Amino acid sequence: MHLSPPVDYRSLVDHMLTAIMQVSPNLEIEYLNSACEALLDISRTRAIGMPLLSILNEQDESFDTKAAVLRTLHTGQPYTRREAMLTIGLKDKAVDYSVSLIIDDRIGAIAHQHLLIEIQPIDRLLRINRDEHLAQQHQIARQLVRGVAHEIKNPLGGIRGATQLLARSLPDGSVSEFTEIIISEVDRLRTLADTMLGSRHLPSLQKVNIHEPLERVRSLILSQTKNTVQVIRDYDLSLPEVNADRDQMIQVMLNICVNAVQAISENPEIFSERDPKIILRTRIQRMFNINGVLHRSVIRVDLEDNGPGIPADIVESVFYPMVTGRASGTGLGLSIAQNIVHQHGGMIECQSEPGCTVFSLFLPWE
Ligand SMILES: Nc1ncnc2c1ncn2[C@@H]1O[C@H](COP(=O)(O)OP(=O)(O)OP(=O)(O)O)[C@@H](O)[C@H]1O
Ligand SMILES: [Mg+2]
Repeated sequence: MHLSPPVDYRSLVDHMLTAIMQVSPNLEIEYLNSACEALLDISRTRAIGMPLLSILNEQDESFDTKAAVLRTLHTGQPYTRREAMLTIGLKDKAVDYSVSLIIDDRIGAIAHQHLLIEIQPIDRLLRINRDEHLAQQHQIARQLVRGVAHEIKNPLGGIRGATQLLARSLPDGSVSEFTEIIISEVDRLRTLADTMLGSRHLPSLQKVNIHEPLERVRSLILSQTKNTVQVIRDYDLSLPEVNADRDQMIQVMLNICVNAVQAISENPEIFSERDPKIILRTRIQRMFNINGVLHRSVIRVDLEDNGPGIPADIVESVFYPMVTGRASGTGLGLSIAQNIVHQHGGMIECQSEPGCTVFSLFLPWE
């Protein structure tokens, strides 16, 4: 006879992707699985024993959570709340959740009642759809820009060559002032078109400790700003290595940090109001969805500055090519950064308000 090994239900529940909590009849948390820890941003050791209502903290004041939960406890009638807004830490999270009664009636045990709470985050789902849609739009915009760059670049070689011939055919130098202008403008356009075209080669992947490119960027920024901007490290040194193109990672981080430095230095009043600084933060992020793929854990790199923030009129479109808030900007830095991160299977997010702008890179490593 074939005997299957006993099922370890705790481990099973802990590996589920649905967030689950068990609550005692006096509404204290007795257990939560890993997905729930990640969703509520709280560790099991801290959460156990906490009152449920301090966590299931609904913003809808017309809904009496306590009464609803007690009703389920007393009547056994389960209930589901859809699109409930919970305040978790400092953030709002939209979730669907359901509450049901479980009665522990194992033979020999005194019947115990518990509540089972299952929580599904929904803003993630909404966001994923939106992210995919945005990623597609960016892709189209990038192709358009590359197409234009190509068309600009093609005749430039001809114009440059013809201008040189013209300059040489009139040896008295009467037009050299003008031909020099044409040539230098053509060269400027060619550099711009090259940036618009972006890198043509795919990333050459190798195992990279993400702190290596960060340290490189840190020293570049410190020397560029002559140490007038602090660059603070907040690293989780236990992070695993990622498969990445080291030079391209440097470019991504540099494009983001250079923007921060420009935003800070273009607003000199920041220097008198506070110490300008950039924070480089690395963390592990659990249960993260990138373009429809759920990763158990990804590496998260936050590049934060305390500058003026992204101008409100472009905050929604900063990752598009040619979108710039600076007079001398080409608006390509972030678009290129985003393209590189996508080629690494990752994503970039940005949150900005005056005094705090954070660009977060999410990179899969497993
Ligand atoms: N940390 C930041 N703080 C304030 N504004 C920012 C920040 N990062 C980006 N921006 C805004 O987003 C715009 C787009 O940035 P992006 O790097 O794509 O282009 P750019 O810096 O204008 O030009 P380029 O990088 O091609 O030289 C910037 O012009 C700036 O207005
Ligand atoms: Mg830039």
